[in-house]
Amino acid sequence: MTGHDLSIIGAGHVGLVYAAAMAELGHRVVCIDIDTVRIERLRRGELPIFEPGLQEAVIRHQDCGSLRFSTSYEDGLAEAEFIFIAVSTPSTPDGAADLRAVRAAARGIAAAVCDRRPIIVNKSTVPVGTGDSVDHILAMANGHPPFKVVSNPEFLREGTALHDFFHPDRIVLGSRDRAAAERVAALYEAIAAPVLITDVKTAEMIKYASNAFLATKISFINEIAEICDAVGADPLQVAAGMGLDARIGREFLRPGLGFGGSCLPKDVRALAYMGSVFGTHPQLLNAVLQINAAQRRRILQKVRTAIGGLEGARICILGLAFKPDTDDVRDAPAIDLIRLFLNEGADVAAYDPQAVAKTRVVCPDALYFDTPYEAAAGCDAIIIATEWAEFLDLDLDQLRAATGHPVFYDGRGFLDNDALQRAGFIVISGQGQQAPVPVPGGSRNGHTVGASA
Ligand code: UGA
Repeated sequence: MTGHDLSIIGAGHVGLVYAAAMAELGHRVVCIDIDTVRIERLRRGELPIFEPGLQEAVIRHQDCGSLRFSTSYEDGLAEAEFIFIAVSTPSTPDGAADLRAVRAAARGIAAAVCDRRPIIVNKSTVPVGTGDSVDHILAMANGHPPFKVVSNPEFLREGTALHDFFHPDRIVLGSRDRAAAERVAALYEAIAAPVLITDVKTAEMIKYASNAFLATKISFINEIAEICDAVGADPLQVAAGMGLDARIGREFLRPGLGFGGSCLPKDVRALAYMGSVFGTHPQLLNAVLQINAAQRRRILQKVRTAIGGLEGARICILGLAFKPDTDDVRDAPAIDLIRLFLNEGADVAAYDPQAVAKTRVVCPDALYFDTPYEAAAGCDAIIIATEWAEFLDLDLDQLRAATGHPVFYDGRGFLDNDALQRAGFIVISGQGQQAPVPVPGGSRNGHTVGASA
């Protein structure tokens, strides 16, 4: 395959993964970002995010000249045959998608390319059918002759983004211009995956609907887990039993603290908002969000009940990132938990192998430690909020010895409950075991440990 000249606007998670991976496919890539500090650091091989394998790939392709970074649209777009827009579209307070970065990128492209017409490939998740699509924004900025715009939603998961790029379940391309979509499809010809070509709105909707469905599965299993708790069934076995049905599937049926991250919460909110401004009633999507928010409060209450009050208690949170193998804490369940526990008058002692620096910025009042054992010292309850693989190797006896009071909640349902109980922990991990178990002779803050608050 002969490589093409690609420019990627946005050196965030998606932009950087695409920049490195497209270079790996043999294309010549310029990655543009207006953040000069970020670009300077990237030129030195320092990444603003942690994503397995990405730093090595960025350094390798810069060294061999297939990837470079720029802060200038004129410079960065000069050779581009294809321009990828990969800027963020965060939620506004009412749940809509904030398109300021997309608009700025479109205006920058329109000014820099003058009369040339490279194909514009949009990877940013933009609202469907609001007239604010990239197509529309470009037409307003530099409309004649019109740009060929292809919507190419990404389905990368943080933590496995490079793997997902090279092994996608599908490649979705939406455009009014089938030939343009086919030219973009050809960029990926080395990748074996079904290619689906649709119109723009349909491609954008496939992205939203996919994330909303994944979120729905999680809130569904969390609601089932709550009912399991009430009736005394085991939610993990229920999920496993359901997942064996090929029509249901095992993925995204892990009950626990609920979904976080920069995508699922934002996209469900944006889809619900989008539906509502078009006069529909997205009741299911709203319920998915409500159930997710309630998960964090449920665990607060469970811990309160188990330790006999939160005022003056010390809560240890192990895992801060919204999922393992990333340092991303956006909308992370752990962040909500820290704030909830601090609000109730508890101290929070936290540990994460990657995400402490980013958590410290948003939660300066928590206490941060270098090891799980230090974080657990003297605490009244331990909560696992991220299923980091290293937690599977925790020395449970050492952890138990460090604690003041051995309440344990595995918010990701991945540790061995029997082993936790053998180490002396009182496990309140969604196993139908909600009644607090008194610790012989134990007490805290004048409460009998295990008594209701
Ligand atoms: C998600 C989608 O999975 C990707 O396909 C999509 O490309 C991406 O959003 C995006 O829109 O850019 P990501 O946000 O990286 O990817 O994370 P997920 O792996 O989907 O996990 C999201 C959250 O759900 C995490 O907090 C995770 O812990 C939680 N989760 C996941 C559960 O609570 N239970 C489960 O069974 C699975």
